[in-house]
Amino acid sequence: MQPTTTPQTDLQPSLLDTALNQFQAWAIENPHNLVSRMFLPIISFGEGIIANNPPYLDAKRQALGSSFCCAGQVVLADFETLETALTSPQARDWRLGATMLSATHGPGVDKGQRNVFLISLSDAAAGGGNHDVFRQCVDDYFFNEQMIIRQNDQVAKQLVNKLASDYVDRLSHNALEEFFNNDQLGWKAFLVRYIHYVIFGINPNDQEKIAIITNFHYTQKGTLYYFAGSSLLKNLNLLGFGKIPELIEQVATIYENSPALANFQENNPKHGKMTRQELGKLMVSLISIAGLQGPLHLGRTAMGYQLLPAYKGHQTSKIDVKDYWDKLDLNDHPSIKLFLLECARLFTPVSASHRVATEPFTARVGGKMRTFPTGTKILIPMLLGMLSEDFWGATTYEFNPQRENLCPFHMGFNSVGDRHAGRICPGKDLALKMLTDVIITVGKARRSYLSQKT
Ligand code: HEM
Repeated sequence: MQPTTTPQTDLQPSLLDTALNQFQAWAIENPHNLVSRMFLPIISFGEGIIANNPPYLDAKRQALGSSFCCAGQVVLADFETLETALTSPQARDWRLGATMLSATHGPGVDKGQRNVFLISLSDAAAGGGNHDVFRQCVDDYFFNEQMIIRQNDQVAKQLVNKLASDYVDRLSHNALEEFFNNDQLGWKAFLVRYIHYVIFGINPNDQEKIAIITNFHYTQKGTLYYFAGSSLLKNLNLLGFGKIPELIEQVATIYENSPALANFQENNPKHGKMTRQELGKLMVSLISIAGLQGPLHLGRTAMGYQLLPAYKGHQTSKIDVKDYWDKLDLNDHPSIKLFLLECARLFTPVSASHRVATEPFTARVGGKMRTFPTGTKILIPMLLGMLSEDFWGATTYEFNPQRENLCPFHMGFNSVGDRHAGRICPGKDLALKMLTDVIITVGKARRSYLSQKT
C-alpha cells in the first residue's frame, strides 16, 4: 500500500494568533499584574478546551514556530525539549495537558482532605510532592502480576469474543454508530467489563455493579466532574450533575471492596500511608479520565470509526484506517502493535501533558527572548512531538506503521518509548494488549462477515 502523499504548508499567523500569543507571553512573564490576573484564567479555560482538538495546536506551531503560548501555558514543542521533559521529574498543577482540572473535585480534596490525584501531584524530585509514593501504591495493587494473569485468561477472551459478535451484529444492521456509542453494548460495554475485570477482578457478569459503574463513567459523563467548570454543572444540577458526588462514592465503594484490594495494607509508609478510601477514590478519577477514555478513543480510530484529524495543509483525514486494518496479518502481533502506535501517533488519545517550571527559564516567544518566572505552566504537547517533521521526516502526516523508531520514540503514553521518570501511563501495556486482541478477534469476524456477504 502506498502512503498518502501530503503537500507542505507555509501557514501565516492570523491576527488573532498573534494577539493571543503576544498577550499571553507578556501576561505569563508578569503573572502578578492585575490585567494578567484578570484575563489569563479566562484564556486558560477557554483556549484549554479548544486546544484539545489536535489540529489547533498543530496549526499554531505551523504559524508561530515551536515555542508559543496557548491556554495560559508556554508551549515548548521541539522534539528534544519534549524528550527531556518526558524523561525528567516534573512539578505539576491542576491541568490535564492544556485543559484546566477542578482543584476542588479531585480525590481527597473533595472531602477537605489531602490531595491524592496523581496527575496533579509533583514528583518528590521536582517540587517535593507525593506522586511517587501514591503511584507506587497504584502500581502494587493494580498493575501487577495478577492483572496480567487475568488479562490472559478465559474470562477476558470471552469478553473479546462477545465484542466481535456485537460488532458483526451491528455491522450487519448498518448500525456501527451504535456499536461505538451506546454504553449498553459494543465498544463501551466491553471496555467497562474488561477493564474492571482485568484491573480490579470485578465479575463482568455482576449486573448490579456493572450498571453502577457504567452509569457514572459513561451514561452520566462523570469524567467531566474532574474538569474546571463542573462546579457550575453541579450547583445548578445541570445534566443531572447534582448526583455525581453520590455516584462517585458508590463506585469508590465497589473499588474498595474489589478482589484486587482484598489484602490491602493500611498505613504503609512505602505508599505514603494511603488509606483504602483514598485509593478507591483515586481509582474512580483515574479510571474515568484515563482508563475508560484513552482506549475508547484509540479503538474508535483503529477500527476506522473516527477519522484521523484534519491537520491544516495535509491530507491525513482522508486516510481510511480500515484499509490498513483489513490488510493486516492478524497473526503478526508486533505488526498489530505498530499499527496501533501509528494510529495513536497521528491521533493521540491524550494530546498533551504539562509541568510547572521550578526555576526561571528563557525561551524565544513571539519574536523575542523572554524570561518566564518559576511557577510558569509549561505544556508538553506530545502530539507535536508525534508530528515533528524534524524527527519523523517529510512523511510525518502520512500513515506508515513501518516507520523507523515508531516504538522507541512514541510519546503517546507520557514517555519516550519505554523511557520515563516515573509518570509513564501505567495502563500502556494493558491497553496495547487489549487493543491487539480486539484488532485480531474483531478483525477476523469482520473479514469473515464481509467475505460471506460478497
Ligand atoms: C490508549 C490508551 C491510553 C493512552 C493513550 C493513555 C495515555 C496517558 C497519558 C498521556 C498519561 C499522562 C497524563 C498526564 O500526566 O498529564 C496517562 C496517565 C495515566 N494513565 Fe493512561 N492512557 C491510556 C490508557 C490507560 C488505561 C487503560 C489505564 C488504566 C486504568 C490508564 C491509567 C493511567 C493512569 C493511572 C495515569 C496517571 C499516571 C501518573 O500520573 O502517574 N491509562 N495516560
